[in-house]
Formats: sequence, C-alpha cells, structure tokens
Amino acid sequence: MKLYINPNIRKGHINAEIYGHFSEHLGRGIYEGIYVGEDSDIPNTNGIRNDVVEALKEINVPVLRWPGGCFADEYHWKDGIGPRENRKKMINTHWGGVVEDNSFGTHEFMELCSQLGCKAYINGNLGSGTVQEMSEWIEYMTFDGVSPMAELRRKNGRKEPWNVDYFAVGNENWGCGGNMLPEQYAMEFRRYQTYIRNYNHARPIAKIACGANVDDYEWTRKVLETAYKHSPYEFHGFMDGLSLHYYVHPEGWLIKGSATDFDEKAWYKTMSKALYMDKLIRNHSAIMDEYDPDKRIGMVVDEWGTWFNVEPGTNPGFLYQQSTMRDALVAGITLNIFNKHCDRVKMANLAQMVNVLQAVIHTDKEKMMVTPTYHVFRMYKKHQDAELIESSLSGVEMIGLEDEHMVPNLFESVSMSKDGRIQVTLNNLSVTDSYNVEAVVVDGKVKSVTGTILTNDMRAYNTFDNPNNVCSKEFDGYKITDNGVSINIPACSVLHLELEI
Ligand code: AHR
Repeated sequence: MKLYINPNIRKGHINAEIYGHFSEHLGRGIYEGIYVGEDSDIPNTNGIRNDVVEALKEINVPVLRWPGGCFADEYHWKDGIGPRENRKKMINTHWGGVVEDNSFGTHEFMELCSQLGCKAYINGNLGSGTVQEMSEWIEYMTFDGVSPMAELRRKNGRKEPWNVDYFAVGNENWGCGGNMLPEQYAMEFRRYQTYIRNYNHARPIAKIACGANVDDYEWTRKVLETAYKHSPYEFHGFMDGLSLHYYVHPEGWLIKGSATDFDEKAWYKTMSKALYMDKLIRNHSAIMDEYDPDKRIGMVVDEWGTWFNVEPGTNPGFLYQQSTMRDALVAGITLNIFNKHCDRVKMANLAQMVNVLQAVIHTDKEKMMVTPTYHVFRMYKKHQDAELIESSLSGVEMIGLEDEHMVPNLFESVSMSKDGRIQVTLNNLSVTDSYNVEAVVVDGKVKSVTGTILTNDMRAYNTFDNPNNVCSKEFDGYKITDNGVSINIPACSVLHLELEI
C-alpha cells in the first residue's frame, strides 16, 4: 500500500477550532467533572479542578462551547450571576431532573476559558428566552462603556469585558430547542441575531445559526434560503456559521448498544457510521455552496462523537459511557475527515469534554483519568492551524463482515505545520491485520521521523485502577527510504508521524 504526500499542493487552512470541545450542564460534565467549588478538598483554582485543567492544557483546547446542548434553550443567564448563595435553583429537566444550583455561570465559564487559554463559544437561548435576554447577555459580557449590563458585570466583580468569539442563536431548534420548522427558525434567527451587537469591533462575534440534524438537507436549504441574506446595513456577518449535529450510534438511536461489550460486526458498523460524516459534510456543503460559493459561512459541527448506552448502574440522564479503542478510532477518523474538509468545516466540538458521551476525561470524585479519545486529540494537536496538504492512499482494501458496512482498511490526513514539518495521522480500521505502507513524499527527502501510536484490543479501555491501559506510545516501526518512509501500522490503531524534510 502506498501513501502519496505532496507538500507542493496546499489545500487549505485547518482552523484550530476544528479541535474544539463542548461542555453542557449535563450529568457530571460540569459539576464534579470541572467545577467543584472553592471549598472543595479537590485541588482547585477558583473552584475549577487543577487536575482536569492541567490535562486539558496538554491537548490545546482551542475553543469551548457552553452551556448546552438542549440545556442552552432553557438556560437563563441572569440566574447564574451574582453572589452564589443568592442564585436561583432550578430543575435540569432535560438531564436527569436534578437540581441545578447555577453555581457555575458566566463568570465561572469565562474563568475556565481563561485557565485553558481557549476561545469562548456561548450558545444562546432562542427556544425559551427573549431577544432582550440574549441581547443583554452580549452586553453584559462584551460591552466596555456605560450601560446597565456593563455596570452589573462590574458590580459582580469583573471590570473588563470578556471576548466572546462565537455565539450560537439557539441549539437543535428543530427538536429540543423549540420544535420549529426551518422557515420559522430562520425568521427567528434573522431577528435574534440583529441584537447580537458587536461592541468590540476589533474582535467581532461570529454568529452561528442552528443547522441540521444528520441528513436533514431540507433544513439546511430552507434555513439558508430564508436567512442567508446580506443586508446593506449589516457591517458584520449576518450568519457566520451553520451547525451540524451527528452522533455515531452503531445500533440506532433507540438501542444504541454497549460502549464496551461489542463484537467485530459492531466494530465495523461503528467505523462505517463514523465515515458517514464525510458524506454528510459533502452533501450539506454542496447546498451551502449554492448560497455561499465563496465559503464565507463556516460549517460548525458543534456536536459529534459516539453515543452508547450509559454505564450500567448510572443515571440514564447523565449520559456517562466508557470509552474504548473503538472511540479512539471514531475520533481519529472524524478528525481526519474534518481536516480534509477544512475549506468548509471551520469549527467542531466533541460531545462532550468531561464525563459525558465520548469524553476525553473521566472523573470519580477526587480521581481523574484520560480516555483513549484524549490520546487521539493529543496526537493530532499539531494539525491545529496547519495547512492541509495533498495526500492519497493507493491499494486500500475494503474490509468488514457485512456488505453494507464495509470500510477502507486505512484512512489518513496530512498537513504541514507552522514549523514546516509534515504531520501524518493514519488510522488502521482493521481489528486483526497490520499493514506495510510506503509513504512517498513528492520532492522531499525525509531527514527524521518521530512517531506516536495508540493501539490495543478493540474493547480495551482505561479504568481508575488501570488508567494507562490504553495509552499512546513512541512508535519505532518505520524506516526512512530514498523517497519517504516505510511503516508497519499495527491492527486497530491510530498513528501520528511527524516528518522533517
Ligand atoms: O450532547 C447531548 C445532547 O445531544 C445535547 O444536549 C443536544 O444538543 C443533543 O441532542
């Protein structure tokens, strides 16, 4: 098998935000997983866990989306500011019916972003909130002058405004965000977005419209038809991004399947469903191209990842699932797909960062461990803000156990990072077979190689007792050749190679 790499052909910029994350007020995603409060025995800084922040800094979180998800369209931001003891308690009706005490609100989220050194992506409430409420939130967060909301922010201890780089006008408004029709949502979007003022002209807020669920192409078309219009009076973007949500459920939405107890059939089914992201992006992009041929609007895949049955014995509303090598491959494939579509995909957010769905971190009270998916994000981080370069695989075999779920054995993406090195990320989807691959670099002599591999049994996962069971390791299964490098990639693995040319 051959992997052709042509550094002379640049195919676009890979926005760092493609490696973004998402944290919702859901289960132990925020409370316990990230925020424990200043009085906790768990070491923290301003209430935020030090161990979690330290681990997240290692993977360079570029942007974080908050507060939901479905939670966003019932979140009223004023409940989450001011002295904590006075904050309203509410029921988190979407997620487990537990009490939400609002102790983690706007100030705490911005503190988290500052500790992580990441951009803020706030999801506004269109489903059950008013235009005034949304507009005042923007004023509260970003206005530096004299105004009621800016004064309120100062009274609550924050003198300077914050930067909000991305703001979504509602979430899943075709479902939990108000059960709207596309034309109806698009009309609401036009109105709400008008009042998302850019107080900081040097760093305008990118406005994200609610996009489709999976393959609802009608939604994409109708929302763009109604809302993708430039008014001559608009100085900033009317719509800067359109979202897409897609989860991998190997056994379907209702059954989902176990996160850890699965067979090879389920493995290949999962791989083929992960690869389906490519088709979704192509099809939605084709519609976007009709309205926006210059690709001014970014596709924002702000929820993606695996969604399995919750761990036995845990609250079904908390969406806590284990994470195996299968999740690692889903992450590896999906991030490679995003890289390949970096001309249109401008941001993506894994669902969700800690303790929920395909998390990168799991906690259990004071304990913390990272998942196989975490290692993939760490191995891929050099793609952030790199340039996608031409690559292709020849001799790829289709593998699998069922005709409808055959998948290529290998899948790759290649970029050139700012330091001029070539970043190759290669996935071996076979559970059983390793492969020899000759990587050929056009017009380039490889001087040195560093490699990292993540490989294990398909069902392998980490536990608090054995946190390094699935762990990335140095890879030495390569040999520099006259025109590139030859490698032997083990079965069921994610590989990162950095080539110096
Ligand atoms: O990520 C969990 C949920 O999935 C989100 O709240 C919602 O937007 C989606 O349906």
